Amino acid sequence: MKVLKLNGKQNTSQIIIGNGVFKQAAEFLCGIYTDQNSPSAILIITDSNVAGIYLQYLEDNLAELDIPVYHHVIPAGEEYKNLETISSIYDTLADSRFGRDDMIIALGGGVTGDTAGFAAATYMRGARHLMQIPTTLLSQVDSSVGGKTGVDLPQGKNMVGAFRQPDLVLIDPQVLCTLPGDVFRAGLAEVIKYGCIWDPEILDMVSGENITAGLENLIERCVSIKIKIVEEDETEKGLRRILNFGHTIGHGIEKLGDFAEYSHGEAVSIGMVSAIKLGESLGITKKGNYSKLKAILHSCGLPTELTYSVEDIYKAILLDKKKQGDSLNFIFINDIGKALVKKIPVAELLIMMKVLGD
Ligand code: GLY
Repeated sequence: MKVLKLNGKQNTSQIIIGNGVFKQAAEFLCGIYTDQNSPSAILIITDSNVAGIYLQYLEDNLAELDIPVYHHVIPAGEEYKNLETISSIYDTLADSRFGRDDMIIALGGGVTGDTAGFAAATYMRGARHLMQIPTTLLSQVDSSVGGKTGVDLPQGKNMVGAFRQPDLVLIDPQVLCTLPGDVFRAGLAEVIKYGCIWDPEILDMVSGENITAGLENLIERCVSIKIKIVEEDETEKGLRRILNFGHTIGHGIEKLGDFAEYSHGEAVSIGMVSAIKLGESLGITKKGNYSKLKAILHSCGLPTELTYSVEDIYKAILLDKKKQGDSLNFIFINDIGKALVKKIPVAELLIMMKVLGD
C-alpha cells in the first residue's frame, strides 16, 4: 500500500493506493479527522451501475462509524452529468439536513466523481469533507485526483465546475475486477497518456504480458505524475494543460459520435495517435513515434483510426464553447515522455489537420 499527498492551495489530499483498501474505508476515513472536525453524517453518491455492486458493501463498512449514512444514486452515463443531477443531489443533502461539516463520498467512475465533487464544492458554499472512491481505471489514474469537478451544459462538456481537492482518495485496484473489458481498456488510454507526456517506462509496463499483476505500481506511477503536475499548476494555467494530450481531437470525436460511439478513453486513443502524426508532419515530434504508439494502443485493444472526416472533426473542435479567441492550446510531444503546449491559430488548424486524412 502507498500513501501519497497532494498539497493543493486550499487543502491537502491524502491518496491511498493498494489492493484491498476499499475494505478499510471506515478506518481510513477515521484516520484523517480529529474529534473537532469529524463529520456527523455521510452521503454516498454513486451511479446505477456501481450501486448494485459496491454500495451495500460500503454502507456496511461505514456502519461501524455510528453516524447516519445516506445514499443518492444517479443514473449512469455522461448524459446525466448535468445541472439537473446536481439539483437532485442538493435536494437530498438539504432534505437530510446536511451541514457544511458533513461528508460526501463519490463512489464510481469519472462522471460520478466529477458530479459529486461539484456538489461538494458548491453545497453551502463548499462542504468541508469529500472522499473519492474511484471504481474505474480511468478515474483511478486521472479524474479522482487533482480536484477538477464539474458538469456539462448543452453547449459543451465540463462547462460548469470548480477546483476542489478531495480530503481522501481511496484507490483499490481490486475493485477493477468487476469492470467490463472495454471500460478497463478505455482507462488504459489515460495510462498511456502519462507514458507519452512524462514517463516512457509506463509504455513498457502496458506493453508487458500481464498488466493486471503490475496494476498497483502502474496506477501509483500515473498518480505520482499527476500530483507533481497539479502541485505546480493546480488551476491549469500552464503545465497542467499537458494532461489534455490527445483530448482536443478526442473531444471532437466524442462529440461527433454523440458520446455513444466512442468512450472518452477510445476517443483519446485516436486523439493521441493523431496528435503524434500531426507532430511528425510538422517536424515537432521525432519520427517513428507514430508507428510505435499505434502498435502499443493496438496491443491494448484501443482504436487508432479516424472514422470521421478531418473537416467534421475540425468543426466539432471549433464548437467547443470553452475555446476562447482565435487560437487553441494544442498538446504535442517532442518525443515519448516530453510534452509541449503550442498555441495554434484556428485558421491554421484545418490546414495542419489535412495530413490526418492521408
Ligand atoms: N484530467 C485532466 C486534469 O485533471 O487536468
